[in-house]
Amino acid sequence: MKYLFELSKEHKTIPTAEIIACLNSENINFSVLESNEDVFIIEIDSDKSKLQEITRRLSYTYYIDSCLFSCKPTINDIKTQATNNKIDKTGSIAIRYKNRSKNINSKQIIKTLAEIYTPGRDVALNDSDIEVRGLITDSTVHVGLKIAKIDRRQYEERKVQFRPFFSPISLHPKIARVMVNLSSIKNNEILLDPFCGTGGILIEAGIIGVKIIGSDIEEKMIVGCKKNLDFYKIKNYKLFCSDIGDIGKDIDKVDAVVTDFPYGKSTTTKGEEMHLLYERAFKNISYLLKENGKAVIGLSNKDFISLGEKYFTLVEKHDFRAHRSLTRHFVVYQI
Ligand SMILES: C[S@@+](CC[C@H](N)C(=O)[O-])C[C@H]1O[C@@H](n2cnc3c(N)ncnc32)[C@H](O)[C@@H]1O
Repeated sequence: MKYLFELSKEHKTIPTAEIIACLNSENINFSVLESNEDVFIIEIDSDKSKLQEITRRLSYTYYIDSCLFSCKPTINDIKTQATNNKIDKTGSIAIRYKNRSKNINSKQIIKTLAEIYTPGRDVALNDSDIEVRGLITDSTVHVGLKIAKIDRRQYEERKVQFRPFFSPISLHPKIARVMVNLSSIKNNEILLDPFCGTGGILIEAGIIGVKIIGSDIEEKMIVGCKKNLDFYKIKNYKLFCSDIGDIGKDIDKVDAVVTDFPYGKSTTTKGEEMHLLYERAFKNISYLLKENGKAVIGLSNKDFISLGEKYFTLVEKHDFRAHRSLTRHFVVYQI
């Protein structure tokens, strides 16, 4: 079966990288049919229930559809393709679309799809049995049947200001979630954040059912982080106060490390020079990871990326412009 992921376009590389990491964490074999800023289209041999877990996890995708067809955005092409790609499923129908082209008028396209797909069916605007989705870009119209809508509202609802404990160092939940996903961690595996702060990364990992361990040098962070985890009713966690260098005394090896390194502006490094702290951090994280485990690290200076390569293999990196004077670098390493 062919599936289309409608990407949020909030970033050039992160949405696709997140999907690939999630497919890998679910051991879903896939081949890529098309990949660009708008869509990621794959073929998988397993049935769509396999994609359910991914739907629960993703943060940079809007919809997952099963593909009906993709073609040039001309009425003739759409007519031919829609006629040749009938919908087998019975039931009421709705036709929805997103027009990402400034040059194409969607009206005629939707009318054409409606003329071919609605005869003999009830049209139901709410709760239809079938939702045909058209995604219109300058070069292509993708038409599919919606199988899932990603619940992206949850990330806004969990924004840091709604938590019992927060500080300017906290990551936006959508970014914390994507970092967790990039580690390809599976449910029930163990994820460590050794600079856990207020717990932004731990919350997102805990919600999807990953076992979490957090530590931080500041006692007040551990107390606040516990409040946050309890607020979201996350159960499977271990938290303790520790310098990055001493964590190995308290825990066994973990499946993934996902963390945002302190970067001196709003977060303390306890007066330690940044490159010395980072060297210690990379080294200790490399001891703490199981074989082939991934470390997803947020850095605020790209010069530190190569420091990590002393201890890990670089898998991928994504630059993220937080605001005019701050670009964050999310780097995925493997041991
Ligand atoms: C960028 S913040 C983490 C923010 C976190 N992701 C959140 O959502 O709140 C970095 C954290 O590293 C902690 N930290 C600084 N130096 C440390 C050290 N030597 N060992 C352990 N933690 C340290 C700081 O107390 C701070 O909470």
